[in-house]
Amino acid sequence: MTKSISISPGKVILFGEHFVVRGSKALVAAIDLYAKAEIEESSWPSEIISEGTEIRGKITADLKVIGSKELEPFAKILSVLKSWGFQLSGFKARISSEIPMSAGLGSSAASAAAFSLSYANMLGYKLNDKELFTLSNEAEKVTHGNPSGVDSAAVTYGGILIFKKDVGIISRLNTLFSDKYSLIIADSGIKRSTSVPVRDVLILSEKLWPALSLIYDAADKIIDLGNEAISNGDYETLGTLMNINQGLLNSIGVSSIELEEIIYRSRLAGAIGAKLTGAGRGGSVIILAPSNKIENIIDRVKCCVKWASRIKISQSGARLISS
Ligand code: PMV
Repeated sequence: MTKSISISPGKVILFGEHFVVRGSKALVAAIDLYAKAEIEESSWPSEIISEGTEIRGKITADLKVIGSKELEPFAKILSVLKSWGFQLSGFKARISSEIPMSAGLGSSAASAAAFSLSYANMLGYKLNDKELFTLSNEAEKVTHGNPSGVDSAAVTYGGILIFKKDVGIISRLNTLFSDKYSLIIADSGIKRSTSVPVRDVLILSEKLWPALSLIYDAADKIIDLGNEAISNGDYETLGTLMNINQGLLNSIGVSSIELEEIIYRSRLAGAIGAKLTGAGRGGSVIILAPSNKIENIIDRVKCCVKWASRIKISQSGARLISS
């Protein structure tokens, strides 16, 4: 039996998480950590296993999930494909991922994108980017409730993007990071849901909109300046903007003592910018640093993280690698 195999990059938000949910822009990059979905045709009920986790179970022909509730997003993808007129077939799927879960690095959007590509290929269909984005984002709605779409855009299209909810990609930045500067991810290892901080921020912004609208505007302005800084190769300004963005995220209640410790340690060790990335209150910190400071920074944060490592931008989004 032939297997369809697809991979999808994870993502890191450089600017604009949370603010993007209420209409400000976000600047996001796909990263070189990947989720993989291997799918082959089989009978119903279909079987899904997520390697290295406890997540496993079956999906019946009428798209009910038996087993881990984390499989619901995959059932949603099947139901959307069905609503588009596809005749569904039973299958066996194995999902594996280098992207840690609940760490703000896009693991759910990436798994959904890789699954969608492999499953559609098994049915003999090649999804276009718009269809792939829609399927990944529909799965995200099951996982998080109220996604802006920024994660699904990053994993679908790859590269560095400026994204706006309900508009899509505003621009694609073709610049690569120079060898002199690097991005480091430091994962606090503190797992958290995306939906709770997103909900809390929406409630806060509703309550105090006359003040909060100014913070949202500032976050939006930071994207324009960040875009300019990346295009000009002005990393010092880029780092300063990351630090300011962190201040805004702190002000809306999504930082934490553990994240601040990682952020301050990395700044003291030579980072020019450090901020939480993703929903916050746990998850990861993104650090911009001169490349000759990487080892020093990783050494200074190792007390307080599950892992920390240099990452690179993935210029490509999700793709089929074998069929
Ligand atoms: O799921 P996370 O932690 O990568 O967060 C996604 C980014 C948010 O802005 C917090 C939510 C969203 O859908 O844009």
